[in-house]
Order: sequence, then structure tokens, then C-alpha cells
Amino acid sequence: MEMLQLFKRLLILKTKAFVSVQIPYGTGIKIYITYRKEVTNMFPFSYYTPTKILFGRHTENQIGDLVQKTCCKKVLIHYGSGSVLRSGLLDRIQSSLHEKEISYVTLGGVVPNPRLSLVYKGIELCKKEQVDFILAVGGGSVIDSAKAIGYGIANEGDVWDFYDHTRQAAACLPIGVVLTIAAAGSEMSNSSVITKEEGMIKRGYNNDICRPVFAVMNPELTITLPAYQTACGCTDILMHTMERYFTNGGNMELTDAIAEGLMRTVMKNALILRDDPQNYDARAEVMWAGSLSHNGLTGCGNDGGDFATHGLEHELGGMFDVAHGAGLAAVWGSWARYVKNDCLHRFYRFAVQVMGIEDTGSENETAFRGIEAMEDFYRSIHMPTNLKELGIEPTDEQLKTMAHMCSIAAGGSKGSAKKLVEKDMLEIYRMAAGVC
Ligand code: NZQ
Ligand code: ZN
Repeated sequence: MEMLQLFKRLLILKTKAFVSVQIPYGTGIKIYITYRKEVTNMFPFSYYTPTKILFGRHTENQIGDLVQKTCCKKVLIHYGSGSVLRSGLLDRIQSSLHEKEISYVTLGGVVPNPRLSLVYKGIELCKKEQVDFILAVGGGSVIDSAKAIGYGIANEGDVWDFYDHTRQAAACLPIGVVLTIAAAGSEMSNSSVITKEEGMIKRGYNNDICRPVFAVMNPELTITLPAYQTACGCTDILMHTMERYFTNGGNMELTDAIAEGLMRTVMKNALILRDDPQNYDARAEVMWAGSLSHNGLTGCGNDGGDFATHGLEHELGGMFDVAHGAGLAAVWGSWARYVKNDCLHRFYRFAVQVMGIEDTGSENETAFRGIEAMEDFYRSIHMPTNLKELGIEPTDEQLKTMAHMCSIAAGGSKGSAKKLVEKDMLEIYRMAAGVC
């Protein structure tokens, strides 16, 4: 066995730049040798971040100024299920608009996994009131709902067509954001995710034209978050970079360094917030990481990322209405184990550079320990690592339905670490459910 380890180390050392050699072996007589090219060449990319950021304490008081500069005539203030009323934030925003004599209407009631029916209601209201600017005050759900309303006003026909991917939007009303939770990254992203109640179908639509004009980010506003939402947010932020990190298509040293630094920063500060939720600096680190994690920065030069874990979660969110971050944590470990061997060098690098695992001399073993360490981290911030811990116990029929829906949403297959088709998705759901 020692000779084999030595042989393997030498091969890895000698061929690191071009070829990574793996020799998985068990206790039996079979020895498998697999060769995998390590992809180091960057891909061409476009990076578009038109969103103006105002970051820091009391920045929400400048909202009147910011909106005035857009030269809009009437604003829709869109918000969620009550946190902005309880915190007094909505009052402050309204005062700031009053000061600048900007007229507005309001529409609250957005729920996590935002619903299409409220989007339709918002479109109708905005058309009636001749709204030409939408101010989202809240988190990813509110921002995504605002983006969908923006599409609905600026384009003819049913807005769901865009989420159903049967046509493209030509325009979107300008969106501004006052962010109250660090999580989805929608304040700078090109994405919007909406759930259609009929069939509880959760679908995302990406288009640069929905990227917000500005985002106001005061980390203090996130101090009122329940601990569970803070942890869900940190998980989602990590996942947005992990989705871009575990790829087999093009990598850049600089992008990797940013991604690894971001992930280490989020984990460090998530633990600080677990013990000290009032910590402003930790809130600030996590909030800025949330935006950078999903504005494209941590994917520059690769093939667009994996995003299979997100695809798998969207079906869980649609069918069981779970919190997005918790759903991601519940399937990530199963996904990682399933795809590891197809993206081994990236998992190895993740283990060493992000999770601080010592190189065991075996790329495979080190990579595996990295996955375990990530799951330990999730547990430490009270995130689930399987479906049972997430609080759901889907039947096998439900798992099959989700795998089927997930593959349809992906247009057949999804992933870069490993291209997954329906049967792979089902396998991962079953692993997460603990039935295989
Ligand atoms: O509705 P309120 O009362 O505000 O309560 C919210 C909600 O219950 C609460 N909350 C937010 N800020 C708070 C607060 N409670 C107290 N104090 C505050 N300061 O937190 C709960 C969760 O809010 P939500 O907006 O749902 O969270 P998040 O930002 O995680 O958004 C999740 C949604 O974004 C989608 C997810 O799928 C999910 O639907 N995503 C959107 C993306 C995008 N557009 O780029 C990318 C993501 O991957 C994600 O898919
Ligand atoms: Zn996400």
C-alpha cells in the first residue's frame, strides 16, 4: 500500500500542470486508473455590473436623492410580509421620498419563494397608477418580485413566458433596492426567481436588463434578521460562489483567489454572527460578499458555472416551500459526493484552500474531507445537511417528480462539475433523502 501511495504522489507531482492522475483502490484486487486533464485555460467573458452601490450606516436616508436622479414620475414601493413595517424602515423611506416630493404607491405581501399572483397584481397596479420606477425594500424575494413586475409592465403578454423560457423580455422597468437581508444577491444579479402557484413551479429567468439601477446597503438593517435567516443567507452566498467554483471549464488564478477569499470570509463571519448577531462589521462583510458572490465576479473566466445544486433546490422550494439557503445546504453534500470524481482537482483545491484541510497525500481523500468539513460548517450554523434535517420527507414519487421537473427546467441536463441528467438528479435527491 505504501508503494502505491508513493507512486501516486510522484505521478501527481510530475504531471500536475497537465494531467491529474487518480488511482482509487479498495481492499479488493481491482485497481482503477483514471486520467483527467486539469483545465487551467480561462474562457472569454463579459462582466456587466451597472448597479450603483451605496454601502454603510444610514444610507437608506439618501433614497429620495437617488430616486430623484432617475427622473421617474411615480414609484412603486414593493415590500414583504411585515419586517420593514416593524423596523420602521418603510416609514423612513416614505419620508425620504416625501422630502423630494416624489409620489409613490405601495404594495406589500411578498413571501419567500415569491408568487406569480402578486406579480400580476403589481403589474395591474403599476399600469393603473402609471408607475415608472420600482423600489424593492427587502430581500431576494421582494427584489425578484419587483423585477418580474418590471418585465410585466415593459413587455406585452404574460410575464410567466419569460420564466417558462418560451420568449425573451425586451425591456424591464428600472429597479432600485434597499436591501434588508444578505443572501440572494439579487440586488446586483441579472436573475429573478418566481413561483407559479398553479403546480407550485419555481423558475428563474436571467437577463441583464433587470439588473438594479442602484442598491442601498446598510448592514445595520440586517441585525433584526432571525438567526435562521442569517444562516440561510450565508449559505446562499457561499453557494453562489461554489456554483461558479466547481467547474470543468476554464479557470483563472485571480478569480479563484477572489472566490476562495470570499468563501473563507463568509464562513468566518457566519460563525461570528451565530454568536454575536449585532456585530456590525460581520454583517457588513457578509452583506458585501452577498453582492459580489452573485454579480458575476467569482465566475469570470470559467464556463458559466455548475448551478446544479440551485436547480435541485428550486424544485424543493417549489414543492415544499422551504427557505432557499436551507434547501441548498440540504442537497449540497449529496451533490458533492455524487460529482466529486468528475471534478476532483477542484474539490481537492477547495478542501485545501477554503476548508483548511491538510493534504493527506491522496487527492481523493483530501477532497472528501473538504466535503465533510463543509457539512460540519453547515451543521455549526444550524443548517440542514439532508432532507430530513430540512424538515421534509418526500416520497419516492415526489423525488421522481422533482428530478423530472429539474431536468425539464434545465433543458435536459445541468452542471459543469458533472453534467447531470434526470437519473443523476434522482440519485442525488435519494441520497439527500437517505434512501440510497
Ligand atoms: O417578508 P419579510 O417580512 O421582510 O420577512 C423576510 C422573509 O421572511 C425576512 N427578512 C428580510 N429582511 C429582514 C427580515 N426579517 C427581519 N429583519 C430583516 N431585516 O427574511 C425572510 C426571507 O426573505 P427573502 O427575501 O425570501 O430572502 P432571500 O434574500 O434569501 O431571498 C430568497 C429568494 O431569492 C431567490 C430564492 O430562490 C428565493 O426565492 N433567489 C434569487 C436569486 C437572484 N434573483 O439572483 C438568486 C438566488 O440563488 C435565489 O434563487
Ligand atoms: Zn441562491
